Amino acid sequence: MLAVTVNVKDRLLEIRDVDRKGKGNVLLKTLRNGICGTDREIANFKFKYTQPEEGEYLILGHEALAKVISVKDEGLFKENDIVMPINRRGCGKCLNCILGRPDFCDTGLFRETGIRGLDGFMREFFYDDAEYLVKVFPGIEDIAILAQPLSDLEKSVEVILKIQERLNWRCWDSTYSCRKALIGGTGPIGILTSLLLKTMGFDVTMMNKREINEVEEEIVKETGINYYDNTKGLGSLEGGFDIYFDTTGYIPLILDAIRLSKRNSIIALFGFPSTDIKGDFNSDLLFNIIDKQIAIVGLENGQKPHFERALVHLATWKSIWPKTMAKLITRKVKIEDFEEVKKAIKEKGKDEIKVIIEWG
Ligand code: BGC
Ligand code: ZN
Ligand code: ZN
Repeated sequence: MLAVTVNVKDRLLEIRDVDRKGKGNVLLKTLRNGICGTDREIANFKFKYTQPEEGEYLILGHEALAKVISVKDEGLFKENDIVMPINRRGCGKCLNCILGRPDFCDTGLFRETGIRGLDGFMREFFYDDAEYLVKVFPGIEDIAILAQPLSDLEKSVEVILKIQERLNWRCWDSTYSCRKALIGGTGPIGILTSLLLKTMGFDVTMMNKREINEVEEEIVKETGINYYDNTKGLGSLEGGFDIYFDTTGYIPLILDAIRLSKRNSIIALFGFPSTDIKGDFNSDLLFNIIDKQIAIVGLENGQKPHFERALVHLATWKSIWPKTMAKLITRKVKIEDFEEVKKAIKEKGKDEIKVIIEWG
């Protein structure tokens, strides 16, 4: 059976024959995988937490759409169901993991498929337990793969709203219409976050350090999200913002955002830094955070309820923003085209949003 593997010892990204199907009650056939920034970091040996399940290689992949081939115990799933596996699994020791919220694992001993300590979904077949599978309803199979990254963001926005309950954050009209959200980065995470916050009524601006491209122009036109080119910094963003959601991991930008964000705002940090960059955290900035009561929060990983919500949002967006949703998967590569698949995993193409691997 074919799989995409990363050999951490010899630093090799390979597509090869393996006989590791994993464990579980449900046998699944992979239909497609999404490639994300984390895969890219792992494949380029830059990701800090990469850890094989056993031996020297890790099977890559944490975004998958799969078909049920067989089920040992009849129950939640049946043959031919289309499902998505969730990617983080609990440590089995802490209360959060035992209660089904390994995204808040207290011990740090959780595992993540294709990332930390568990083989991933870039393989022809795998076994998994029904408790880790989410059923995909018909009509959205074409974009359902986006539910994995979106699940991380559903969780993130849930956390942001919880934290902001510390004040009266809704506006005079009881919505979030007066709250400005600035999103750093326009990759899949930046765009999906923008769509999500727009759906919730926020005044959303997505931002990149360049002129707007064609796809972003269409998104702006269809959804009413704004675009800001931050080549010259954040200075001309009128009136500041109530959320800065970072997907870039670029420290100087984050520090600027803290400086310019409004009173009672929240700085949401999602993007890991990919290079070793330093920034000037100084006493002025500390005064600023305390006096303006700015909350700063790190965010990662969505769980089953977030996957479910993500699928509902994808279905909604497909109907209200069809042009946008048709543009988010920018490229499909077939697993048989080994070199192309490896290149797609290692390098991000120009203006690329989501690239997927198709299994025959
Ligand atoms: C995944 C998350 C995961 C994170 C950290 C992301 O690419 O989508 O679910 O928690 O990486 O490993
Ligand atoms: Zn990811
Ligand atoms: Zn735990």
